[in-house]
Amino acid sequence: MTGFPRDQWYVAAYGSEIGHDLFTRTVCGEPILFWRTRAGAVTAMADRCVHRRFPLSQPPSRLVDDQVVCGYHGFTYDAGGQCVAVPGQTRIPRTARLSAYPVVEQDSFVWVFIGDRENADASRIPRAPWLVSPDYTTLNGMEPLRARYELLVDNLLDLSHETYLHSGYIGTPEVAATPITTEVDEDAGIVYVSRHMDDAECPPFYAKSTGLQGRIARWQDIEYTPPCLYKLHARIAPVGSVPNPDGSDPDAFHVEVVYAIVPETEHSTHNFWCVARDFALGDEEVSAFLAESNRTVVLQDVAALNVLEQVIAAEPEGYQELSVNIDTGGLAARRMLQRMREKS
Ligand code: FES
Ligand SMILES: [Fe+2]
Repeated sequence: MTGFPRDQWYVAAYGSEIGHDLFTRTVCGEPILFWRTRAGAVTAMADRCVHRRFPLSQPPSRLVDDQVVCGYHGFTYDAGGQCVAVPGQTRIPRTARLSAYPVVEQDSFVWVFIGDRENADASRIPRAPWLVSPDYTTLNGMEPLRARYELLVDNLLDLSHETYLHSGYIGTPEVAATPITTEVDEDAGIVYVSRHMDDAECPPFYAKSTGLQGRIARWQDIEYTPPCLYKLHARIAPVGSVPNPDGSDPDAFHVEVVYAIVPETEHSTHNFWCVARDFALGDEEVSAFLAESNRTVVLQDVAALNVLEQVIAAEPEGYQELSVNIDTGGLAARRMLQRMREKS
């Protein structure tokens, strides 16, 4: 479990994180410098001066209009990464250019392409339209993980852990007790894992936010597009209610949970989470409750995965895990990630 899938799009930030200021984030071991130009476009280039490697995100480096001036000796770069000024001479060396990353702002995220830029096809970026839809209210956050990204993939592809790790928040006995179905679409590069609980306890997370009393139908349909984008389509409804044949589903509450799983280094991960709901739109009280509850749940995962990373780092070579039915989706995802790494 080492290395990163390259020639892939990864989320580097929320668009809201990037303004007309220098901003840096490391993706797949590559420190990247971002800022928003006066015209509103997001730039993405190597956060390392070509002269003596000083990070351009670090003071006293600074942004002057749409140019970044290195804080060490003053090499100056434009928004495309081209060097436009060098101290003490007028000639600018031909190779004085920061490598620029293909960048796309979409569905509230800033995506960057890690790999050979000729292979950057923006149409391959998976979509999450709810995150910017007026028909949904969305909450989000990012909790860093001191653990390899594969552990977060395992965690999110198997939600039976909700019953144990998230008991009292989103876990109820039915989650672990209900079998899953797993499907893999190799052509589209998507792993689907579904668990439909038709008569389940309503956990506080949904009882307080929807107002539903008593037992519920609770569906969890996972759609993971390796390496980065994970979507959980959650449906909560009174027991016995099913969607209409035309797809409408007026008695149900829908929550779209989206994660962007982004390797920072071999042993750390950016864990972006979003919760978009189609009910109680704009209700501040529901938003505050869901934001706090979801952050707590995310931090429960973070704590567990940080421990696991330590365990894995300390164990001897060749430890054999035992996998069972609940791991089917996670194992399918691991195979896809492995193929992506081999191609890189
Ligand atoms: S390190 Fe940037 S100008 Fe010297
Ligand atoms: Fe979890």
